[in-house]
Parts: sequence; C-alpha cells; structure tokens
Amino acid sequence: MREKFLVEGLGGKKTLRGEIPVRGAKNAALKFLAASALFEDVIVFENVPDIEDVRRMKELLRAAGAEVVTDGERVTVTPPETWNTALDQTIAKRMRASIVMTGPMLARAGEVSFPFPGGCVLGERPIDLFIMGFTALGATVIEENDFFTVKAPEAGLHGAKIFLPIVSVGATETLMFAAALAHGETILENVAMEPEIIAEAEFLNACGAHIEGAGTSTIRIVGTGGVPLSANSQTFTIIPDRLEAGSFVILAALAADDVTVTRCEPAHLGALTTLLQRAGVNLEIGKDSIRVRAGETPLTSVCVRTHEYPGFPTDLQAPMAVFLTQCEGDATILETIYDGRFRYAEDLARTGADMTVMNPHQVLVRGPRKLTRANLESPDIRAGLAYLIAAIVAEGTSGIDNAYLIDRGYAHIEDRLSTLGLTIRREEVV
Ligand code: UD1
Repeated sequence: MREKFLVEGLGGKKTLRGEIPVRGAKNAALKFLAASALFEDVIVFENVPDIEDVRRMKELLRAAGAEVVTDGERVTVTPPETWNTALDQTIAKRMRASIVMTGPMLARAGEVSFPFPGGCVLGERPIDLFIMGFTALGATVIEENDFFTVKAPEAGLHGAKIFLPIVSVGATETLMFAAALAHGETILENVAMEPEIIAEAEFLNACGAHIEGAGTSTIRIVGTGGVPLSANSQTFTIIPDRLEAGSFVILAALAADDVTVTRCEPAHLGALTTLLQRAGVNLEIGKDSIRVRAGETPLTSVCVRTHEYPGFPTDLQAPMAVFLTQCEGDATILETIYDGRFRYAEDLARTGADMTVMNPHQVLVRGPRKLTRANLESPDIRAGLAYLIAAIVAEGTSGIDNAYLIDRGYAHIEDRLSTLGLTIRREEVV
C-alpha cells in the first residue's frame, strides 16, 4: 500500500506555534540494536524511535535468532544461544545500516555472510573499508557475485592498527564493535567523530568493553579476547536525534511564529545553529531545547559546506536548500561526503525554487522565491523531509508521495506536525 502526505501550505506565512519533542536518534538506535550481537544476556533500550528502519533492524535481529520485544519506545533484545550468521538478504539489501551488524556477528559467532547492502541512493556507497578492516583483524573474506562470507580465524579476531582512508561512520562503528571482542589492542585512525559513536562506546564500556577516544579521530580498543559483553540488567537510553532536531529547527525558521524544539541536544547542532543565526534566524538555545521565533528582518543567504561531524551534516543539506530558497541572495551548497545528492533540485524547481546544479558536488540556490504547490515524490529519507518543508512554505495544497521514505526516518510525522497548527494528512495512493 503506497501512501502520500497532503500538506496545506502556509504561503510563506509564519504561523506555527507550540513545542515539538525530538525522538531517539535513528542512527544511534540502529547501531545499538546491531551491537546486541556482542552480548550474552538481555539488553533493554529506551527511547527507541518507532520508525521503519528500526523495525527492519529488529527483523534482521529476529532473523538472526534473537528475541526482540517492543513496548512503546522500549525494546528488549534477548540474544540466542547460537546466532544464525547469514544475514537476512531481503532486509540487508534494502537497508545500508544492516552492514553494521556484520562486525558484532563476526566477533561473536566467528562468521558472517551478507549481500552487498542497499539503502538510500546517495551516489556510490562502497564497503571496501569494512572489508579492509575485517582483513586487518585477521578475518578471511570471500566475495562471490556481490555476496560476502567473512570468517574469523580459529583463535578469534586479533587487534590491529587500521587507518581509514575515508572518514566513514558505518566503518568506524562496525570495526569498533568487531574489535571490542578481539584479542589484543586495536587502533582505529581517521575515524568518524559523530555523537552517536560516543554514545555507542559508552554503552559498550558499561558492559565490559574497553574503548577509548570515541569522539576523537583515533579510537583505541583493548579487546575482551572473545568474552561476550554483558548488560547486567542495565537499561540504555538512545540519545536524541540531532538530524530530526535540525530538520525541525529549519522548518521552524521558515514557518514558525514561536516553536520550541524540545528533548534535543543543541551541542550536537553547532554547525547548523551558527549558520542559521548568521542568516538572521532568531534562535534561543537552551540546555535541551531550541526556540525559534519569527523575526522582523528578512533572512539572508549563507553558503553551506557539508563535512563530517562536527561540520555541517550532509543529511541536513536538502532541508537547508529549502531554507535558502527563502533567503535574500545567492548561496552555494558544497556537498563533500556524497555525489548524487542533489536529485531534489529538479523536483524543488517545480515548486518555484531556483536551483542550479553546478556539478555533482555543488548546487546554487537563488532566493528569495515564492514557492507554490506541487506533487512531489520523495527520493530518500532526508530529501523527503525537505519536500515536506517546501510544501509547508508553499502556497496551496501539495502532495508528497512515497510517505514510507519519510517514515523510515521520522516517526508519525503528520501527527507531530499537526500539533504545531499545520494541516497535514496521510492518504492512500490508489
Ligand atoms: C551514515 C549515516 C548517514 C549519513 C552518513 C554520513 C547511518 C545509518 N547513516 O551513513 O545518515 O549520511 O553517515 O554522515 O548512520 N565509504 C567508502 N567505503 C566504505 C564506506 C564508506 O568509500 O567502505 C564512503 C561513502 O561512499 C561516503 C563516505 O564514505 O562517501 C561516508 O559514508 P559513511 O560515513 O560510511 O556513511 P554511512 O555510515 O553509510
């Protein structure tokens, strides 16, 4: 069943009011769940967002033999005696984050097999760093027709010094997880520094792992020598989703009279809030909230350059492009992480946005432009939300098809946005 969102645009007026709480981080929840394969006992997670990708990760764990019970935003995982080391192919092919499960599985069960992972189409997304890392930890990797079988040596994985030539979130996490149970010391260099990685390291350390340096560019792990981790009846809370929070702040900057994004971690959003303030957005940054109030002065354009954390997140560049359509002046967005992440430009042009893709890494946005209603089809999770924001700013009623892509990243978005005074509903596409 295909669904779409129908949004009554505000025609550029700033009328939204109220509070919108942020849910747990998708990109942390997926990895916390994947790391369950390192454990010997039951683990309880709180603040797990009820989104498509998390449901798929739970399915992946179930298919591998775990018992997964959901009670609202609490998820309990009971590892099996013996893991089924062949990852469910259908899920793995549809979700890129499934690859993070390969590290824990290899470390705990000594073997893992999986197809080349799928996911959002964001240019080329290879897995060479994972393969290089597994090999350095002593594993043997066999590839046949895009299907991988990875085996640890009889004696288990051993520590290694691994330099990642490209900063990769998924490779950092996967190798950190695998090394957690290895024999000896692993040094991971040029790693990603995302807050989710710090949270994951803290979680594993509370359960018997020895990981230092998460949040810096070098992580040192002293492996447990094959001893599984133990949650010891502790409960772990997923950190707030900085990308959801950032999207809501961008939306509020364009459409709010007075909106407060609550239950968030503003310290994780420095790159965004600095740029928005420079553009003239009125922000009040609290301890765990960001309040956005409509200002008198017009917004002015700011150039954006995506970068690994703590730089400007690539996942917020599509929503930011919509923001720039409402600012005075020209601005470029330089995308440094992916190529092929400007597919939204053509679609947004149909709403009246003035965007020119200069090359696979650079788009020029001219503002301000009046946006008008359009029927759009969401191409990926983050651009999908950008389309929703464009529809909210636009005049008239717009349709955003492929609602499931937005559901993959944002829980019950229509209900939550409605509380701010927006008219938005979900409809089946016939
Ligand atoms: C994660 C996030 C995603 C975000 C991205 C970059 C999750 C579930 N997803 O994705 O939302 O957009 O970080 O911040 O956490 N690369 C290689 N070889 C590899 C692995 C990656 O060349 O083996 C390249 C990728 O093609 C890309 C760059 O490294 O150009 C960064 O990608 P990576 O950080 O790995 O992204 P993900 O972990 O997949």
